[in-house]
Amino acid sequence: MFSVTCIAPVNIAIVKYWGKRHEELILPINDSISMTLGTNELCAKTTIAASEGFQHNRMWLNDDELPVEEDSRLMRCLKGVQRLALANGSQKVSLSWKVHIASRNNFPTAAGLASSAAGYACLVYSLARLYGVPINEELTTIARQGSGSACRSLYGGFVQWHSGALDDGSDSVAKPVVSAQHWPNMHVLILVVNDERKKTSSTKGMQRSMTTSQLIQHRVDKIVPERTANLKKAIEARDFPSFAEITMKDSNQFHAIALDTYPPCVYMNDVSHAIVDFVHSYNETIGEVQAAYTFDAGPNACIYVLKENVAKLLAAVQKVFPNDATESVEYLRGISVSATVEKHP
Ligand code: DP6
Repeated sequence: MFSVTCIAPVNIAIVKYWGKRHEELILPINDSISMTLGTNELCAKTTIAASEGFQHNRMWLNDDELPVEEDSRLMRCLKGVQRLALANGSQKVSLSWKVHIASRNNFPTAAGLASSAAGYACLVYSLARLYGVPINEELTTIARQGSGSACRSLYGGFVQWHSGALDDGSDSVAKPVVSAQHWPNMHVLILVVNDERKKTSSTKGMQRSMTTSQLIQHRVDKIVPERTANLKKAIEARDFPSFAEITMKDSNQFHAIALDTYPPCVYMNDVSHAIVDFVHSYNETIGEVQAAYTFDAGPNACIYVLKENVAKLLAAVQKVFPNDATESVEYLRGISVSATVEKHP
């Protein structure tokens, strides 16, 4: 029997992915850019064992068993990495052996904290390590087919997922923009407003936006190309005010499209909106942009802030939101995925 254990962190989108041009291959309609958190923070941890003695492929997520063979996304990832292993020809572990997979998130699943991104990145990375497949751009095309945003968690630092133009999706890959070391004092403060499962999953929400939103195509054609280019410039120059403006505008636009969807996808709640107001007045009061919010498909806020400004911001957050409604946690950023592989006698 062989086993491998890996950890993969979540990534927080700055320019959001929202909408697919191909459902099964998970091909997005627009490029997106995110920052991957460090491996000590919001992470998925996955152990995969492969053995000649296993009868079936099996998987447990946070201790609950999932029907692997019926889950098309899981099977695409498993088969995808096995296909790469076959092409690579160097695997120690037989591809005919069944696998047992156990995965656990150290944070609430499906609460808009990018759990599927960390989960599928970890699954695909672990499979790659198990079969000796190199970690490269091609592997991001497999992670993408588990959950789109997962392809960005295979790299640390700032990462761009290129929408690509080809029908087979081979050019829809994630690529690093800059490594985590480029902007080491960039931190994220996560304000957990609500850790319940979201009402409308990202997958369902974006399907509905694709068929009903009248704004979504305008975003794809007119907004995202310029925004991604400007964001990359801001990241390269470590220009926090420009970075912050793009981050907040893109979060707002994504939620505007969610609301333009019919029936609407309402992900932010009153506390989320209060956080938006708080961040704007905080920046205004200190006369400098030091904090930038972003919200995914849920009410929880991620606030980008430089390390030297974390303590002051955290104190202000605790003053404005003193009760339990907002539990704030600081997450530092480090490197991406890590792994250990073991052979069992
Ligand atoms: C709002 O990657 O969860 O977090 O590809 O259908 O699995 P599927 O969706 P998913 O969507 C993430 C949407 C988002 C924005 C982002 O992460 O870019």
